[in-house]
Amino acid sequence: MKKQVGIEALAIAVPRRYVDIEELAKARGVDPAKYTAGLGAKEMAVADPGEDSVSLAASAAARLIQQQNVDVSRVGMLVVGTETGVDHSKAVASHVQGLLKLPRSMRTFDAQHACYGGTAGLMAAAEWIASGAGAGRVAIVVCSDIARYGLNTAGEPTQGAGAVALLVSEQPDLLALDIGLNGVCTVDVYDFWRPLGRREAVVDGHYSINCYLDALSGAYRGWRERALAHEVVRWGDTLPSEQLARIIYHVPFCKMARKAHTQLRQVDLEDSASGRELTPEAREAAAKSSASYDAQVASSLTLNARVGNVYTASMYLALAGLLHSEGTALAGKRVGLLSYGSGSCSEFYSAVVGANAAERMAKADVEGVLARRERVSVAEYERIMNLPYEAPEAITPAPGEFRLKEIRDHRRVYSAG
Ligand code: HMG
Repeated sequence: MKKQVGIEALAIAVPRRYVDIEELAKARGVDPAKYTAGLGAKEMAVADPGEDSVSLAASAAARLIQQQNVDVSRVGMLVVGTETGVDHSKAVASHVQGLLKLPRSMRTFDAQHACYGGTAGLMAAAEWIASGAGAGRVAIVVCSDIARYGLNTAGEPTQGAGAVALLVSEQPDLLALDIGLNGVCTVDVYDFWRPLGRREAVVDGHYSINCYLDALSGAYRGWRERALAHEVVRWGDTLPSEQLARIIYHVPFCKMARKAHTQLRQVDLEDSASGRELTPEAREAAAKSSASYDAQVASSLTLNARVGNVYTASMYLALAGLLHSEGTALAGKRVGLLSYGSGSCSEFYSAVVGANAAERMAKADVEGVLARRERVSVAEYERIMNLPYEAPEAITPAPGEFRLKEIRDHRRVYSAG
């Protein structure tokens, strides 16, 4: 029998402060409905310079180990997926290994390809375990990022920050991956990027949405071809995508998940005999089905609406939100996941929710992590955004968390709570 491999548990970390999205809209002279209904946002995480990709990754990994009682002597690989690393050479993963005093006998590295880096790390870890190379050991994959476009930009309401740590093992209590079915799509585009030395991303916003949708189509078709061949889904009374209990998308802003779902259905409808019988207008209406979106997508977006974009961690934050709210109902059911990283690389994969998902998610306490945040005014958010990144404020981290304390002789020094 093929080995079961996947995500055993997860933990999240977010900045200690957030801003209300309607308040931000009012301050920008924008109708709040544009940010709430138009983009699907409610709150946005605000990271100060002490909360960098290292401190968020270390806080999430420490929480995972503590909450889920992880035996660290069994961890043979630690990967950080990030596109907001802190050094061109030294890996965020090496900082995390040191800050958490993890054993030296582990492979550590960062995976970078915009928001796709976390999925690249997860697949490297899962395939390492599935191949037998891990020899019974487990892996920790942390997705950690600060999404930053700058004040008064179109991207401003789609910022955010945070980290999600995943324990990957042969005991996939949260998600057993359908290894071998993944569909991928790489297209060389300039839709979103961050030239060396810049803190803020450069983005061609509307073009980036089209690039995401185009890459999604390629990745999904690749997965569907293999899933059909393995009879995981079939052409029949329902579309192949409708045979997935839920679909979790990369979420740069919540409304994007709705656009993505429409595109996925459009692909199925264009390729199916029943869909081809429809007029283009009827096909478009069927693709836009609100009932399908409500049933398959909406419940995964609750945490993302309160945090904003977390680049590599966005899809895994959506997974956390979904399993937090529906872990019991989804046990034994197959879900689809679509990861997209600008530039671009996307991957569609499927997985089966584990019987212990609800129990594992109760330990992760995702609501508690968000509830401990402090709401700040727009003026305070702007002050924080304007702080120089090399001079973090002197704040004592909460117990179990980490913060950048200072940069001395080009070395980053962290404090632990
Ligand atoms: P914009 O041009 O300011 O907004 O920027 P808009 O005019 O397109 O409006 C947004 C939506 O609000 C529209 O809905 C409007 O109709 C609606 P849609 O037509 O798209 O369904 N709207 C209203 N709704 C209700 N009441 C109103 C109202 N007014 C307007 N009064 C944009 C939006 C997303 C482009 C911008 O925020 C941006 O550039 N964001 C950053 C880029 C981004 O997130 N791209 C997503 C795809 S690329 C990706 O996901 C990769 C990424 O995560 C990075 C990585 O991989 O590392 C970004």
